Amino acid sequence: MSAPAKIGIVTVSDRASRGEYEDRGGPAVRAYLDRVLKSPIDVIAHIVADETGLIVETLIELSDQAGCCLVITTGGTGPAPRDVTPEATAAVCERMLPGFGEAMRTESLRFVPTAILSRQTAGTRGSCLIINLPGSPKAISECLDAVFAAVPYCIDLIGGPCLATDPEHITAFRPGS
Ligand code: MTE
Repeated sequence: MSAPAKIGIVTVSDRASRGEYEDRGGPAVRAYLDRVLKSPIDVIAHIVADETGLIVETLIELSDQAGCCLVITTGGTGPAPRDVTPEATAAVCERMLPGFGEAMRTESLRFVPTAILSRQTAGTRGSCLIINLPGSPKAISECLDAVFAAVPYCIDLIGGPCLATDPEHITAFRPGS
């Protein structure tokens, strides 16, 4: 059996990082992954303040040192002055994948008109795919359902492990298979 795939979850929130507010986004991402993935995973979760430098450091640590094939951030994607997660993501990624943000916003508009306020994006750093989500716990499945079918093939293409999904929830699309 192959080693568990390492996946990072980064909650970006000033208040959650100070313990003033319970982190509900990180656990919601974890629950989503446990529901849709059949492959074994090893999750590394962090909570960081809305500071570009801290987010950059955390994303680099998870991709380069920890060897994560996927890092999902939640929070800090809006237009408020302290929302800097997309900038930190762009700063560490070698390639941006704007289709992720486009698809997530389009799907999210079916749920909330304020979906267009999220600047969420995605990109790759080495063999790691980084995806931004908004901070609202209910946004997590709304957004991931829109893009997750493409996640395993993206990770194949960048040289990461082969992720299997549970077809009861998500059927991974791999062209030609
Ligand atoms: N997308 C979905 N699917 N569901 C939501 O509730 N909230 C929106 C938007 N995208 C939302 C959503 C709102 S109100 C904001 S301000 C932006 O995401 C940015 O949220 P963030 O700053 O917590 O990342």
